[in-house]
Amino acid sequence: MNNIESIEAISRLNGKEKARVLFVCLGNICRSPAADGIMHAIIEEHNDDARWEIDSAGTGGYHVGDLPDSRMRIHARRRGLELNHICRQVRIADFDDFDLIIPMDASNESNLRRIAPTTEHETKIIPMAKFINMSLRYDYIPDPYYEGAEGFELVLDLLQNGCANLYDIVSKVIK
Ligand code: 4NP
Repeated sequence: MNNIESIEAISRLNGKEKARVLFVCLGNICRSPAADGIMHAIIEEHNDDARWEIDSAGTGGYHVGDLPDSRMRIHARRRGLELNHICRQVRIADFDDFDLIIPMDASNESNLRRIAPTTEHETKIIPMAKFINMSLRYDYIPDPYYEGAEGFELVLDLLQNGCANLYDIVSKVIK
């Protein structure tokens, strides 16, 4: 987390009534639905529903229509989070429908940059790692799909930190 308020897409939210945030990973069954569920929980804790619109999507379409991966659902449930997102693929309209588009890793980011309709739309893309405390020493959210339990726990730790920071930063700039 470094000078994040100066990022164009964040400063554009200044005074807006709502922040619309889309989390993006490859499959939309592990990392991004977890970020989506964590962010919804933080917003609910703050009784702040009216100012946020949160969704998630995958750059790939392999799991469209599925619930999140059962391993991710189990690990999330242990932290009090029920993940019920139905997997969908990123669509071009997302670049208009959301203010911040947040990829989990460099591959998700380059896929998004490739399909962004204009450079203006491209400025909405901010990697999730930008919101994570520097002390955690992660510059991406590692794909847990082929990992064991520790991989899922690590993703949830990183996302809980990043989403809390995202909430604090953005909730200060919107109306
Ligand atoms: P995600 O994890 O991008 O965090 O949802 C993955 C899920 C599925 C696959 C890859 C990554 N897959 O290859 O099916």
